[in-house]
Amino acid sequence: MLNEKIAAEQKHAKAVREMFSGIAPKYDFLNHFLSLNIDKRWRRLVAQKLENILENPNALILDVACGTGDLAFLLQNSGKAKVIGTDFCRPMLKVAFDKNKKNNTAIPYLEADGMNLSFANHTFDAVTIAFGLRNFSNWQNGLQELFRILKKNGKLVVLEFSTPVLPGFRQAFQFYFSHVLPRIGGAVSGSRGAYEYLPDSVLRFPDQRNLVRMMRENGFSDIEYKNLTGGIAAIHTGTKK
Ligand SMILES: C[S@@+](CC[C@H](N)C(=O)[O-])C[C@H]1O[C@@H](n2cnc3c(N)ncnc32)[C@H](O)[C@@H]1O
Repeated sequence: MLNEKIAAEQKHAKAVREMFSGIAPKYDFLNHFLSLNIDKRWRRLVAQKLENILENPNALILDVACGTGDLAFLLQNSGKAKVIGTDFCRPMLKVAFDKNKKNNTAIPYLEADGMNLSFANHTFDAVTIAFGLRNFSNWQNGLQELFRILKKNGKLVVLEFSTPVLPGFRQAFQFYFSHVLPRIGGAVSGSRGAYEYLPDSVLRFPDQRNLVRMMRENGFSDIEYKNLTGGIAAIHTGTKK
């Protein structure tokens, strides 16, 4: 039974890694195009949640599932803290590396599974994860791993798609997300499956309140969330007390 569960999780992780490998070159363009650039504002709001930590030149921040590095780059440029990015998909990291070259930055990007990191306990002042947790093969274990690497009083910030709060808007958005977005995403990236997986994975992921509960169950305190763009996405923050 346990072996079957582990095998299913490994299969899921492999499929996710291959999917992002396939869309990596088009990922940024599609992100900004399909969200009408709103994703950039959402990432800026993540940085705002970490203002105090970002100002500290001795602080260390890990951006998990950093993908092409947009959030890591933004965080590095929003203060004096040291930022590291990590992801398990090499082609996504390659795009992040290339941005380092283009922008003359030196953000360290490490290839690693966010559910099994080699950092010691109590290493980071903050951990961020943007549109990554939903893709983990086990959300609970993932949250426990992020909790483990945080220092005492360290902060987790999760940016993730969520559930729109107004019923009419929710249905309109779900139509766009499930029927329009996969066609455009599929045509541009050549991988319709990736843009069908996106709405499916969002529907399976806990909504705002259930994510609060899951964070609490995995050790976090002082959990708060903020809906973004009517709840299309949400930022959850929690502290390791
Ligand atoms: C939707 S992208 C988000 C990328 C980036 N954070 C952003 O805001 O654009 C999801 C990323 O999560 C990564 N990912 C998914 N599961 C992972 C895991 N278990 N460990 C590390 N990275 C993972 C994927 O490789 C992909 O780069």
